[in-house]
This record gives sequence, C-alpha cells and structure tokens, in this order.
Amino acid sequence: MFDHETLKVFFRGDFVDFNQATISVANTGFLYGLGVFSGIRAHCNKEEDRLYLFRPDEHYKRFRAACKLCRYENFLSTYDYAAFLRILVTLIQVNNIREDVYIRVGNFSDENRITPKFVGYRDSLCAFLYPLGDYIPTTGMRCKVSSWTRVEDNAIPARAKFNGAYINTAFAKTEALLDGYDEAIVLDSRGHVVEGSAENIFVVIDGKLITPPVTDNILEGITRKTVLEIAAAEGITTVERTLDRTELYKADEIFLTGTGAKVSPVTEVDKLAIADGKVGMISSKIQSIYFAAVRGEVEKYKHWLIDVYKPN
Ligand SMILES: Cc1ncc(COP(=O)(O)O)c(C=O)c1O
Repeated sequence: MFDHETLKVFFRGDFVDFNQATISVANTGFLYGLGVFSGIRAHCNKEEDRLYLFRPDEHYKRFRAACKLCRYENFLSTYDYAAFLRILVTLIQVNNIREDVYIRVGNFSDENRITPKFVGYRDSLCAFLYPLGDYIPTTGMRCKVSSWTRVEDNAIPARAKFNGAYINTAFAKTEALLDGYDEAIVLDSRGHVVEGSAENIFVVIDGKLITPPVTDNILEGITRKTVLEIAAAEGITTVERTLDRTELYKADEIFLTGTGAKVSPVTEVDKLAIADGKVGMISSKIQSIYFAAVRGEVEKYKHWLIDVYKPN
C-alpha cells in the first residue's frame, strides 16, 4: 500500500509533486464544484506480472461528453483519447505503481473568480492516484432507501460525473451511515429506484436481471455496462426498465456496481432481508466473472484492458 501524498500527480499540463498541485480558496472548482471527474481502476495480475487499466476508452467517452456539457475548451481541444490514455499510463509509470490502484481524473473551471458559469474561464486537467481497496463491503450490504432525492437530468444531469453533484451523494451516504447502514439507495422525485449513492443498481426478479434505464437519472456506469455484457454472455436475461421501490423488497437478489464499488451484493434493505438474506447465485456469478475479467483472467474480456507497462 502506498502513500498517495508522496506521489507525482498530473496538474495543469505537468507531472508535479502532490504538494505542488494546489488551487486557491477563490478557485471556481473549489467554490462551486465546477468540474467533472472519473474514477478508473487498474488491477494487478500477479501471475502475469501485469497491471491492467479497466476500460479507459469508456471512461474517456463519458468524461469527454461531460466536458462538452461544461464547454471545457482546453480539454476538448487538447486531449484526444491517445493523449488522455498517455497521461493515465505515464502517471502510473512515473510513480512505479505495481499494485491495484484507483486513478482520479478531473477537469475543472480553473479561475479565481466569483461567477459560477461555464464560459470565459480557463479549464484544467488533473489526475492523481489513490490506494483504494473495497469502497463498500462486497460480501453483503445493509442498505437504506434514502430520504434524499436524486438530482434530475434537467437540474444537474446524473449521467455525467459533475463534482458539485456529489453533495447529493454525500447527503444520502451520510444519512445511511448515521442510521447504521452500509449504503444508501436513492429514488427519483417520482419514487422510482435510481441507484446507490455512488453505484448503479441491479435486482434479480424471477431469474431476470433488471436495472433502471439510462433515462431514469442514473449515471451511465461503466461497470453497469460491463455487467450487462457479462450477463448477456452468460445467457442471463437482462431488462432495462423503471424500478418501483417495492420491487426492492420483493427482489430475489440485489447488487450495486461501480468502479469503486465493484460488484457488491445487497442482502438487506430497510431492515428487510432480500430473499433468505444471503448473497444470491446470479450476484455471485457476475461478481466472480467481473473480478477475474478486470485482472485479465478471462481471455474473451481482455479487450477491455490496457496493459500499463506495455501499452498496446
Ligand atoms: C452516482 C454514481 N452512480 C454510479 C456509479 C458507477 O459508475 P462506474 O461503474 O462508471 O464507476 C458511480 C461511480 O462513481 C457514481 O458516482
């Protein structure tokens, strides 16, 4: 395990020491959360002595679309996918990281100004490394349906990872933790199930894997997409449709997905056991295939990976 505060980070176009990557208290990124981010993992395969970045192309696509919404001219004109990937790979290489690592990439409104807006300000890219193990428990979680409502597409679009939107996440997560739960499940203003505080959600009902569609104010999760692909390949029927709250309580299985969260089964919601309260078969199966795939142990999914020390 490394100390990320001793590493180099990418900041305003250069690799600098962690302590040099600082912004002013008057910076719009800090004042208003004007920024977009992505969290990307690289996983170590000890047997092959490899470190594999997981689906950086998908992260780039989502990140770029969010930068477009924010009119981030510097990012859009400077960083194509090749340049973005080069930064991720170089960041890991200059720090000589050979273990599992989480990369946080952000692009933010980089001016010491007072008006929250997305025009006329410089924007800057930054990236740093973090030693992240399990973000939430992966062996069966107790969740609470949050009293906080998810932000809507026409307010702060959920399909992009906007820094400021994570105040909504923090409210939901804090409430769940203070009430003694592991994680929150958030609903939209109509009372439909949206996602976890920082994860997408899947439920199994009558053998079908169901998840809310991307038009239901969810983040277009890369792990979600991965799980849908794994499930299809395994012959599991997948359905993207709106989910009612009460379907959580009658579900046979539930799990949450995310780069941080991985594939994390939920065994209880609002103090009601999900089925028999144990991790279900479909959840276990998807989780074990996902764990193997990210480490390069499944040949047919190797195209999702970039070998950090030998980029293809
Ligand atoms: C609100 C929210 N939903 C879902 C996810 C999962 O997305 P991904 O699988 O791309 O990490 C995240 C990830 O951080 C998130 O913040």
